[in-house]
Amino acid sequence: MARIAFEQMDKRYPGAEGLAVDDLNLEINDGEFLVLVGPSGCGKTTALRCLAGLEDISGGQIIIGDRVVNDLPPKSRDIAMVFQSYALYPHMTVFENMAFSIRMRKRPKPEIDTKVREAAQILGLENLLDRKPGALSGGQRQRVALGRAIVRDPAAFLMDEPLSNLDAKLRVQTRAEIARLHQRLGTTIVYVTHDQVEAMTMGDRIAVMRDGVLQQVGTPKMLYEAPANRFVAGFIGSPAMNFLTGRVRTDGDRVSLALDGLDMPLSGRAAATARTRGNDSELVVGMRPEHFDAADSATDGTISVPATVEVVEFLGNEELIHANVAGNDVVALVPASRGMAVGDNVTLVISDSVVHAFDPTNDAVITVGEGRASPARVSGLTPN
Ligand SMILES: Nc1ncnc2c1ncn2[C@@H]1O[C@H](COP(=O)(O)OP(=O)(O)O)[C@@H](O)[C@H]1O
Ligand SMILES: [Mg+2]
Repeated sequence: MARIAFEQMDKRYPGAEGLAVDDLNLEINDGEFLVLVGPSGCGKTTALRCLAGLEDISGGQIIIGDRVVNDLPPKSRDIAMVFQSYALYPHMTVFENMAFSIRMRKRPKPEIDTKVREAAQILGLENLLDRKPGALSGGQRQRVALGRAIVRDPAAFLMDEPLSNLDAKLRVQTRAEIARLHQRLGTTIVYVTHDQVEAMTMGDRIAVMRDGVLQQVGTPKMLYEAPANRFVAGFIGSPAMNFLTGRVRTDGDRVSLALDGLDMPLSGRAAATARTRGNDSELVVGMRPEHFDAADSATDGTISVPATVEVVEFLGNEELIHANVAGNDVVALVPASRGMAVGDNVTLVISDSVVHAFDPTNDAVITVGEGRASPARVSGLTPN
């Protein structure tokens, strides 16, 4: 097992204008499951390939265990990589595929046999060892690819979107299998995905990247509750956070956000934050769909948002509302019992303790004050 560290690491591809990875500083603890997440092209694969030694770095250093590995070839880094494409040898059996790398290392036959059977048992592949990849399902092939990595007993596993070729159901199942595998082996895993749900469900910690730049590192809960900027706030959480841009209005004790034709009173830390910005300053507030409810009016500690329902998506227990708020599309997830209908004029309410505020000039979070209480549903109220 090993600690891994990127220190001021840059990667520039020959001929490319910008950096694919820009000054990456990231420490991954021994035994940790770290997920690197971000939209396509943000540099996740590049960072992982640099760590694996498949790409040279352009600056800084990479440390695995106690060694700076900048100049070490991949095979000397004691890591195993699992890719999106499994690249199994089609003419070899599952056993032979899994045994391949340790056979190359000329390990004694009984040792190879034991390791392959142990890995097969962990992954539920015992009955498939004599099959060729062509006779396996996609999920089984992906497990063989994992097994091939496990038998090498590496200090760390590096996985690049290993589930993206699987259908939705199998993805959820294999996600849980990889999580169990990590619990069982305790080996450091660096896992790359563009899927924030995978990141949230699998990672001990998540590192969010954008355009080659690391945005924030933290536990799933930290990123959800206290995103550092508008990008992380919008990327983590599904459906995505709503953002409303307006001007702060202060009038004595009263603080509000002036939107197009709507003056939205603020309270709690949202009001405190707005006040620190000053009258007439521009402010972005962020509100998560699942923190809204529909009510008759605001109560203490809530902010109310008058809205017109435009689309209702029934989800069983809840319904997803697309509503018009002063010309903005706002998404809200409310209990299905609210019985919303298209055209309804409703008041959406949200606890002021879960409203985020951002600086429109640089998208940094500026929310002041404490109180990230879990949002209490306002109960017993109906749409007006
Ligand atoms: N071999 C390469 N040569 C030149 N540019 C590349 C190469 N591989 C990736 N890039 C560029 O580097 C950036 C990061 O790519 P990548 O690491 O693959 O992103 P991600 O895995 O997050 O989708 C992108 O702009 C991509 O076009
Ligand atoms: Mg990639």
